[in-house]
Amino acid sequence: MASKILIIGACGQIGTELTMALREKVGRNNVIASDIREGNEELMASGPFEIADATSFEQIKELVEKYGVDEIYLMAAMLSATAEKHPMKGWALNMESLFHVLNLAKDKKVSKVFWPSSIAVFGPTTPKQNTPQTTVMEPSTVYGISKQAGERWCEYYFNKYGVDVRSIRYPGLISYKTLPGGGTTDYAIEIYHEALKNHKYTSFLKKDAELPMMFMDDAIRATISLMEAPAKSVKIRSSYNLSALSFTPHTLAESIKAHIPEFEIDYAPDFRQEIADSWPSSIDDSRAREDWGWKPEFDLRKMTSAMLEGIKDVHHV
Ligand SMILES: NC(=O)c1ccc[n+]([C@@H]2O[C@H](COP(=O)([O-])OP(=O)(O)OC[C@H]3O[C@@H](n4cnc5c(N)ncnc54)[C@H](O)[C@@H]3O)[C@@H](O)[C@H]2O)c1
Repeated sequence: MASKILIIGACGQIGTELTMALREKVGRNNVIASDIREGNEELMASGPFEIADATSFEQIKELVEKYGVDEIYLMAAMLSATAEKHPMKGWALNMESLFHVLNLAKDKKVSKVFWPSSIAVFGPTTPKQNTPQTTVMEPSTVYGISKQAGERWCEYYFNKYGVDVRSIRYPGLISYKTLPGGGTTDYAIEIYHEALKNHKYTSFLKKDAELPMMFMDDAIRATISLMEAPAKSVKIRSSYNLSALSFTPHTLAESIKAHIPEFEIDYAPDFRQEIADSWPSSIDDSRAREDWGWKPEFDLRKMTSAMLEGIKDVHHV
């Protein structure tokens, strides 16, 4: 029998595309999407969907039992910019949901867990260029603190209870199918929409704020390939560094100008610049490459073409 997968937070930026990709791969009825709200039409029409709150152990357990779930992808979380505004709520959602899923795996209700971490686990004292897998980690945001604590708990559950948990430190993810959910790298998505609509954009990050980024197709491919890797290849059980490209608002704008010459950008940095300042500029992902064969496919030029085409197609701009 095919294994049953539960996605929690399936209607978000990553969850939507992950759900569609997994349904394509293992069959629509083997992937149960869940969220506290309904998702876009395509997602809702493509297979089973349940409303469930990730902070309720009972609700998640009920879904696992109802569908005979054996793998969970936990995508529900409060992201960096929003969590700075609601610190306690962010902490509660990010930590409680993770414990519920880890405890279900500890009790052998499910056999494998994916939980996303982030480059936000790093902080102002971390080396900024080519940030190593193992290095100083003193995150200064609520979100980063929750992700770092989460990584420690994942590794603890693996070591103490044999829980097969796998994780990636995603960089900023760029996509066009679903709007982003309140992160510091959201500018790199808004910019494409505004370039097509109004030919200008005001960036909430500075001209030279360089951050690690990745096109969504690469992120989905990485996630699924980490989950498919033999357990013995997954040597890091906190979370893997993962990298594709790094750019600044200025270099991103230049890549858009190659398609839309009249595009103009200006800069009005807000509180999110401080968050960006605390994060790395580029990431060393050699462990992911060595352990489970990771290799990105999208560079800046390819991503910009895909974003502009994708937004025109999906949003009819
Ligand atoms: N998008 C990025 O650039 C990025 C980068 C690094 C890490 N991540 C991580 O990846 C994961 C998914 O991120 P995303 O960008 O898709 O986020 P998102 O905000 O777009 O989606 C999160 C989803 O979780 C749902 N949700 C919120 N509270 C819930 C609850 N109590 N119960 C059930 N569902 C709930 C929301 O409705 C939403 O659909 C998060 O853990 C995030 O920290 C994302």
